[in-house]
Amino acid sequence: MAMTKGYASRYSFEDVWSISQIMEETKELAARVAKSTSTVLIHGESGTGKELFAHAIHRLSIRRDQPFVSVNCAAIPEDLFESEFFGYEPGAFSGANAKGKPGKFELANGGTLLLDEISELPYPMQGKLLRVLQEREIERIGGTILNQVDVRIIAASNRPLKPLVQEKKFRADLYYRLRVFPLYIPPLRERKEDILFLAHRFLEHYCKAYGKTTIRLEPEVQQWMESYPWYGNVRELKNFVEAAVLLVDDTDGRLTMEHVKVLMDDEGADVIYPTWKKGETMKETYRFPLSLKQELENLERQLILKALSESKGDRMRAAELLNIHYASLYRKLNKYQLEEG
Ligand SMILES: Nc1ncnc2c1ncn2[C@@H]1O[C@H](COP(=O)(O)OP(=O)(O)OP(=O)(O)O)[C@@H](O)[C@H]1O
Ligand SMILES: [Mg+2]
Repeated sequence: MAMTKGYASRYSFEDVWSISQIMEETKELAARVAKSTSTVLIHGESGTGKELFAHAIHRLSIRRDQPFVSVNCAAIPEDLFESEFFGYEPGAFSGANAKGKPGKFELANGGTLLLDEISELPYPMQGKLLRVLQEREIERIGGTILNQVDVRIIAASNRPLKPLVQEKKFRADLYYRLRVFPLYIPPLRERKEDILFLAHRFLEHYCKAYGKTTIRLEPEVQQWMESYPWYGNVRELKNFVEAAVLLVDDTDGRLTMEHVKVLMDDEGADVIYPTWKKGETMKETYRFPLSLKQELENLERQLILKALSESKGDRMRAAELLNIHYASLYRKLNKYQLEEG
């Protein structure tokens, strides 16, 4: 079967940068399991590189020339799950595409399907997913025939699933079917050797990307980096370095603690998001006529950014701070394009 355009893995293990012993072992383990067709369950905090690993596992597998399809379980509205996963036949429901639509399982046939943020899969869908994993057959909505599917499953979650199983929010039978091979990616603060290594790699990358000369890290900055907890893990570090590259004066080429303060302080938030000004009341900020929808969206965007900066990039925590469901925050991040997928 020819590979469907656009469904290929984008990263290999060479793109997973690290020097720590624990990560070398993790990569070795992942590379070993990649060559099998076992189901893999990747756990790790947000930003540790779960998606990167999923791509790399597919790339190293015997299925590398077959499709790699990714589905984000937190981003699909509940009533669309079935059509997303299983597809539908022409005329299956009103508003459906006249030609019908293949589901993710069909698209991934012969290859690998990444079920990202699996903890967010609604309970009823968990049962349906389990049945497919057991029977290896799918039926499109409105269809009459069962189609065989041959798909390697990789599931990823930044919420530990075990407690969810105990709370009866995640089906135990599905959990055990997924965790055939569990892979845990440790947070950055538990592999401090990787911090400066990654920082230098990202510096090199972004200096090149933005056409800047080399930037050096002052010794105090290096010390700070190694002791900072990086709750948003590699993603947070990467974003920090990108912002730093843009901030540092090209002629000087040094990243100092002054820069760090600007980038990390509450004060710093004002520098990055100038629309968020302290002490401004609504009366001063808003002038009629205005677009209520636009203003509300702007406010929502700012509050989300504020929560993300408060939570140091931890999206789960940010959702708590905003008192909204994680899935809802996820959709808003996409809507406002506030974070990479
Ligand atoms: N070891 C690494 N080497 C290079 N880049 C990395 C590494 N780990 C993560 N990254 C980068 O950090 C960002 C976050 O990685 P990724 O999306 O894989 O994390 P994740 O664990 O899936 O996060 P989330 O749970 O929030 O979805 C990406 O830009 C990725 O390329
Ligand atoms: Mg991810």
